[in-house]
Amino acid sequence: MSKILLTGDRPTGPLHLGHYIGSLQNRVKLQNSGEYKPYILIADMQALTDNFETPEVVSENILNVALDYLAIGINPEISSVYIQSQIPEFSELTMYFLNLLTLNQVERNPTVKEEIRQKNFENKIPLGFLIYPVSQAADILAFNADVVPVGADQVPMIEDTNMIARKFNQTYKQELFKECKALLPESHGRLVGVDGKAKMSKSLGNAIYLKDTSDELWGKVRQMYTDPNHLKVEDPGQVEGNVCFTYLDAFDDDKAKVQELKDHYSKGGLGDMKVKKYVMEVLDAKLTPIRQRREEFAKDPAQVMAMLAKGTEEARAKVHETMKAVKQAMGISYELGAAVA
Ligand code: TRP
Repeated sequence: MSKILLTGDRPTGPLHLGHYIGSLQNRVKLQNSGEYKPYILIADMQALTDNFETPEVVSENILNVALDYLAIGINPEISSVYIQSQIPEFSELTMYFLNLLTLNQVERNPTVKEEIRQKNFENKIPLGFLIYPVSQAADILAFNADVVPVGADQVPMIEDTNMIARKFNQTYKQELFKECKALLPESHGRLVGVDGKAKMSKSLGNAIYLKDTSDELWGKVRQMYTDPNHLKVEDPGQVEGNVCFTYLDAFDDDKAKVQELKDHYSKGGLGDMKVKKYVMEVLDAKLTPIRQRREEFAKDPAQVMAMLAKGTEEARAKVHETMKAVKQAMGISYELGAAVA
């Protein structure tokens, strides 16, 4: 039997190049390897944990994320793509898992800690937010996933998931859940945004989206952070920290050409505009086929929603099996019959 791959994204905006390099590209490769049965989750409930006051941000972006998936080559014949909130068993499983760990253990998660700091929650942390790693464990264990391709920031979530799996097995004396493995992207850390200041993120306004038009793309490439001391073309320029070169390293397959440009830039005599035009060429060549596929799918949103309905049904069938086993292990399958089914 093929191994189970599980991963997902929060639908808070269209997906960008950071997602692409950090996970989407790898996801398509894994999907097409034939070694896995992929389940891909649009984590709307998790997105609501920090967008609960603006739920429309989440609901409006479900279609965006689904279109991005299709555009990059997620194939609904192979991968089941589904909406988290439409499978209520995830919440049920979360509830049972919550008994298995302490407040202290949840608070120790470094990703959650960092987010709490960034969001200035101080001592007013919404409970839904605090426990989202437990709900993420339910996302994963509901499928007994073997591998979870994610970015490095998600490793603590995988550790929490495995801790919960062990604790469940121990508590209910059954080897029901297996531990999963995070699959990290090969070489790149989080891609820096076009401003060069921080990782690419929708909220920082420094992102290049998969759906950007060529004009929008050029607008962003033109503003890319380069070497602020590289004032005249003949001046030697700095490659390190220069976003143009970071992106060429990440997206240009012609490594010899990139090295040649770097050498020329360091020596002096290569202008920023020339480099940017080349970056544009490379990115536009990557993004044009994605954009075109996306536009095709966007013509028929009903068909995309039908794909999500089918994926949700497939995923729910799998989750249903797990829930049965969970209740059996816990001794809470009461067999009350049709009256409450
Ligand atoms: N936390 C992930 C993110 O912010 C999204 C996510 C939710 C996820 N549930 C998951 C990823 C389960 C992998 C597995 O991107």
